[in-house]
Amino acid sequence: MRRFNSWIVGGVVVGALAGAAALMAAAGEQMSLADATKPQYTADGKLKSPDPAIFREWVQLGTPVTPNDQNNGVAAFPEFHNTYVAPWAWAEFKKNGVWPDGTVLAKELVLVGEKQASSGKGYFGGEFHGLDVAVKDSKKNPETPNNWAYYNFNHAAPPYAPEAAAQPKANCSSCHEANAGPADDYTFIKYYPIAREAKAKVKAKSAPAK
Ligand code: HEC
Repeated sequence: MRRFNSWIVGGVVVGALAGAAALMAAAGEQMSLADATKPQYTADGKLKSPDPAIFREWVQLGTPVTPNDQNNGVAAFPEFHNTYVAPWAWAEFKKNGVWPDGTVLAKELVLVGEKQASSGKGYFGGEFHGLDVAVKDSKKNPETPNNWAYYNFNHAAPPYAPEAAAQPKANCSSCHEANAGPADDYTFIKYYPIAREAKAKVKAKSAPAK
């Protein structure tokens, strides 16, 4: 009888543990589904906007600026272009010199603010002013060059659009194809010193020994 009781107690404990493990596994799955460093889509296939509070803490690749006063007063994008990538994708890039599947490149636009500081004349960061995103996703974009797709979440102050459809090739991809090209995985590595250096290191390592 004692033995029987302890079997039952044991069974209950084991059952409870199994239940807890199943719950934890489900929670883990939920978490990976909502991984904010990977592309997230709506049911109708639009990209959900990456969260500025999250991507602003990623690795910042560079900050090109195309100010109005160097573009006849009307630059197409007169802002600083702050480009960010998640640390896991950056780690992969440093290993291989190409962006891994699932990479999200967030380019947030920031208006030129002051043009004179105590350090001298120049261009100093003003207000946030738009969000462009490039996503490499082989499942979603099997047909595009290196599986990239391009999205715009407004060219204006936040809050940004919560979701966006992929842009037609002529709006974005064609310029990236022509000017960044396959050698740089259709991204403007040439303007991001840390990416340029990382890629040069990968190339040097893979060069045949003399
Ligand atoms: C006329 C050429 C041109 C067009 C069109 C264009 N881009 Fe770009 N894009 C660039 C250049 C040049 C850079 C790097 C320098 C900079 O940011 O100013 C860049 C950088 C980016 C980056 C940062 C990652 C990278 O590839 O270097 C993203 C993201 C991006 N563009 C998204 C878009 C989206 C979305 C569109 C369409 C709505 C678009 N681009 C249209 C030229 C273009």
